[in-house]
Amino acid sequence: MLLCAAAAAAWLATAISPAAAGPLASPKRGLAFTPNATTRADDSIWVTQPSDLTWYYNYKSSPESVFSHLPQSQFEFVPMLWGAPSSLDDTTFLTTVKGLIQDGGVNVTHVLSFNEPDGSFADGGSNIEPAAAARVWVNNIIPLQKLGVRAGLPSCTGGTTGIPWLQSFLSECSKLVSTGGKTQNCSYDFVAIHWYGNFEGLASHMGEYSAAFPNASMWITEYNIDNQDLATTQAFYNTSAEYFDRLDFVERYAYFGAFRSDVSNVGPNGAMLSAGGNLTDIGAWYLGRPATGVSPTAGSLGFRAAVPRGAMAAVGAALAAVLLL
Ligand SMILES: *[C@@H]1O[C@H](CO)[C@@H](O)[C@H](O)[C@H]1NC(C)=O
Ligand SMILES: *[C@@H]1O[C@H](CO)[C@@H](O)[C@H](O)[C@H]1NC(C)=O
Ligand SMILES: *[C@@H]1O[C@H](CO)[C@@H](O)[C@H](O)[C@H]1NC(C)=O
Ligand SMILES: *[C@@H]1O[C@H](CO)[C@@H](O)[C@H](O)[C@H]1NC(C)=O
Ligand SMILES: *[C@@H]1O[C@H](CO)[C@@H](O)[C@H](O)[C@H]1NC(C)=O
Ligand SMILES: *[C@@H]1O[C@H](CO)[C@@H](O)[C@H](O)[C@H]1NC(C)=O
Repeated sequence: MLLCAAAAAAWLATAISPAAAGPLASPKRGLAFTPNATTRADDSIWVTQPSDLTWYYNYKSSPESVFSHLPQSQFEFVPMLWGAPSSLDDTTFLTTVKGLIQDGGVNVTHVLSFNEPDGSFADGGSNIEPAAAARVWVNNIIPLQKLGVRAGLPSCTGGTTGIPWLQSFLSECSKLVSTGGKTQNCSYDFVAIHWYGNFEGLASHMGEYSAAFPNASMWITEYNIDNQDLATTQAFYNTSAEYFDRLDFVERYAYFGAFRSDVSNVGPNGAMLSAGGNLTDIGAWYLGRPATGVSPTAGSLGFRAAVPRGAMAAVGAALAAVLLL
């Protein structure tokens, strides 16, 4: 299709404008659910209305009881086959997901597979050889695809090992399903991408996936710019959300993450909850709401967690002195 020069220039200007405000609402947003046992009351924040979140995953095969009152049509649970079972012929994942669909009343329509299989256990990866993963996929994922469930390729790290791992995985998978000298390929319905770094790196990483897996739909299932100042983190959030929303081949995305700033492994400013458990600006924007103005380091009373203990003690002592007067 031809674009007139003025329209093309206008499109380019929008595409590269770094100051574009983040979009408030999007149906593509989901929750990468990483609850902390000490703050379970936070779990309901993500589904308290108004919330834009339409789907979630919890790195597991079974849904969370805290969300079980919500139908799939409202808040879709996406099971994940996290890693390799001790026996590669184990089909527990398949049995569990089939059970959800057939007996559990949970209309599972998408599954995710293998969390960072090219990463070490120490870094949260599932550390699997492509050939082993292929065998587990054939045993557990292909039967679900036959039931109409859409499956995501394994979600590799954002590092350079990811795409070669996936290519090796697909080639091993093809060997397992090819019979009688006729090459068959394993099919997938979307790629699942992780990224930690700046926006230019994210866009370039997505471009590498487009080149390696032509025409594939994308889910960005973990992403952030980690360990940056608040302004940089918010600008990254806005630019990437606007980018994902604009691209039709990006079906879904999940910002990492949904936790308090004091237990964040991506730096305090990348957390959607403050140390006191309130939504930060990014947390609120992600849910489709206006900014809260809550600093990520703010404690439950609105004090900044960064205030040294000594200073707080001095305030306490001063207060006590006033009360004693
Ligand atoms: C991000 O987007 C929000 C609106 O969604 C806007 O209020 C804010 O100023 C933007 N921040 C940056 C740094 O672009
Ligand atoms: C959960 O929260 C507690 C209390 O803040 C913290 O000590 C612990 O490290 C957190 N666990 C994880 C896995 O983040
Ligand atoms: C399951 O969800 C899909 C996709 O939303 C829908 O097309 C289908 O009708 C649903 N099936 C049931 C039994 O609700
Ligand atoms: C299988 O995938 C390979 C590598 O992407 C490709 O070259 C080949 O044409 C595919 N074969 C079939 C039968 O789809
Ligand atoms: C690209 O994807 C679309 C939508 O899934 C499909 O209709 C089309 O045939 C695909 N094209 C190629 C070249 O695979
Ligand atoms: C933080 O959350 C607490 C408990 O939900 C609430 O009482 C308080 O008003 C919130 N503070 C801010 C600054 O939003």
